[in-house]
Amino acid sequence: MIRYEEQEKAFYLDNGRITYCFGIVKGQYLESRYFGRKIRRYRGSARPWYFDRGFCSNPDPEDKIFSLDTLPQEYPCMNQGDFRQPAFVLQTPDGRRVSRLVYRDYTILPGKPPLAGLPAVYAEQPGEAETLAVRLEDRVSGAQVRLYYTIFRDYDAICRHVEVENPGSESLWLERLMAMSLDLPRRDYDLVTLSGSHLQEKVPHRRPVSSDTVLLESSRGASSPQQTPCVILTDPNTDEASGQVWAVNFVYSGDFQATVQAGQYGGVRVQMGMNPLTFGWELAPGQRFVSPECVLVYSAEGLNGMSGVFHRLYRQRLCRGPWRDRLRPVLLNSWEAFQFSIDEEKCLALAKQAAELGIELFVLDDGWFRNRIDDRRALGDWTEDPDKFPHGLARLADQVRTAGVAFGIWFEPEMVSYDSDLYRSHPDWIIRSPACDPILSRHQLVLDLSRPEVCDYLVESVARVLRRTGASYVKWDMNRHITDLGSAWLPAGRQRELSHRYMLGLYRVLDQLTGQFPEVLFEGCSSGGGRFDAGMLYYMPQTWASDNTDAVCRMQIQYGTSLLFPPVTMGSHVSAVPNHQTGRTTPLSTRFAVAMAGNLGYEMDIRTLSEEDRAELRQQIARYKALRQTLQQGSFYRLLDPCRGNDAAWNFVSQDGSKVIVCQYRVSADPLRRTTAVPLQGLDPEAVYRRQSDGALFGGDELMYAGLSDHPVRQDFTSLVTVLDRVEA
Ligand code: GLA
Repeated sequence: MIRYEEQEKAFYLDNGRITYCFGIVKGQYLESRYFGRKIRRYRGSARPWYFDRGFCSNPDPEDKIFSLDTLPQEYPCMNQGDFRQPAFVLQTPDGRRVSRLVYRDYTILPGKPPLAGLPAVYAEQPGEAETLAVRLEDRVSGAQVRLYYTIFRDYDAICRHVEVENPGSESLWLERLMAMSLDLPRRDYDLVTLSGSHLQEKVPHRRPVSSDTVLLESSRGASSPQQTPCVILTDPNTDEASGQVWAVNFVYSGDFQATVQAGQYGGVRVQMGMNPLTFGWELAPGQRFVSPECVLVYSAEGLNGMSGVFHRLYRQRLCRGPWRDRLRPVLLNSWEAFQFSIDEEKCLALAKQAAELGIELFVLDDGWFRNRIDDRRALGDWTEDPDKFPHGLARLADQVRTAGVAFGIWFEPEMVSYDSDLYRSHPDWIIRSPACDPILSRHQLVLDLSRPEVCDYLVESVARVLRRTGASYVKWDMNRHITDLGSAWLPAGRQRELSHRYMLGLYRVLDQLTGQFPEVLFEGCSSGGGRFDAGMLYYMPQTWASDNTDAVCRMQIQYGTSLLFPPVTMGSHVSAVPNHQTGRTTPLSTRFAVAMAGNLGYEMDIRTLSEEDRAELRQQIARYKALRQTLQQGSFYRLLDPCRGNDAAWNFVSQDGSKVIVCQYRVSADPLRRTTAVPLQGLDPEAVYRRQSDGALFGGDELMYAGLSDHPVRQDFTSLVTVLDRVEA
């Protein structure tokens, strides 16, 4: 899949469907050449015009046509005459930031080597992937920079990351380090990004690339709901079903920066990597820094084609452990039912009723540990509250299991409250500056996970509860972002390393816990989808998508989230009405029709339900179980964008193509009761499908090209779920 063409001085990564090509120019510079649909060769058809341009500096004074400022570069550095964004800025012991990165050599490795201490896409067999490592040398500092590229046999994706080594005898300082940089040849792309906030995560924004630089970033200590580490470029006419897409996503959960920069003379530079605002790294002699990786996806089949690649890759080669391939349980979470006022009796009553309805897992959310009566205290002290659970949590867990549902539990391990034994005994374990009081958020402080003993404490305190209760599910929360970046542990010269060291500490904790408890299903959460990213999915194969459970808002959130992440990774729950975030009352059937399009759960006091609602829940859960293989492991296609109109729709197709599930939603009632016929995707046009509700037969071609109509109901917030089975023609 990887070859080097000596005559062209070009590297080709090619899996028969996509080609990625870059070359060596003048024996030393790496030139971005092509990334897209498979081509046999790239002979320079889209090369920029080179001539003697004003202000362009010339590394070879005799060649005024050649300038790095106009060369599409694979990994540009600072102060070398390319005035676009550099991917690499290094400070040398003399305080200067001048580099001369030049090509040295390359190696091709079978498979995909792991990234030490970091989440990464993996290959299970060496034949599934091939990796190219290209070595550059900084002629100024001697630093060795290795660019890694992996191509996969079965996924149309390339993984890129960078390693920097200091072979010298004095320290060097990394100031800016991008995991990837890529110069694409055109300017007429649309840029799609996902931004948002708490309660409105991952909203797609689309606009043409203009003549400036778009900067996406987080300096919040988490990938955050505000901007997603993801850049999607499309042809202007690309839609969900057709057209070209180039996408980059960072497999990292901390601070990041991504830029999309239009070149002066054409072309677009895309970069993604560490956020220089909160990143700096001292490379002591002999040390190596490994960046997190980026996943680059190309699709010729529109945004759904792009999502299909991300979904399969992340489901099959990013998520790990036994839960990767298992069907996920339907859960009931205590939070929206009880908040902090939980106790043994209420929990047991809820679990018993859950079992009767067919729910498979009861999750004890926040409030179970000593002194946790509200959000002002007790984080950090992970011992059960004897007042709320007089017979102990172990007994509650046993009773829950005896009632017929598994037992799961909530933690927010990275945090500590002032009012906690942990803070009182280790005031130096928090992130803060000694010069001022740290800023609180939800009354809590963040633990300094750059300290090994803090990480050990977290592993031990979570493990103790898991051992005692035999819990088979953990909800891992993170409810504030990081301010006052400062560590009592790190020396002054290394304070800028704290953000990344925090992530390395967290990844180590997660690696140890998931390794010790492989049977436990972990779900990430950060006030909803505040840290819903590819990095977390490596440890925890699902994430609570949003604290906003309103069905109408959730359509939009799940629609946006699905650009990158498969439905099985999105925790989505049916909750009570009026919705506690929006006050909106939507029918139970629609709340279910939205939540079932993710990883289904319930989050309400089911003890207070009417008999009618209880019967409906029972039916919903049975229906979900009958369909969940397709919903959780099938392919997902977005059909109608809820952000653009009154209707939303998507469809699922089972892995073997035998079942199709179509979900159609209408927000406000239409007095004219107009029909929306939505063309389905991913079906076999030659096949015939039978609609389960009435036995009607339709051709795959008819469903894909004429569409499937919804039903005219006189009500707001309606939904229609249609199941079609493939039948022999
Ligand atoms: C966060 C989570 C909620 C819940 C609360 C508990 O807000 O997103 O689901 O767990 O914390 O405090």
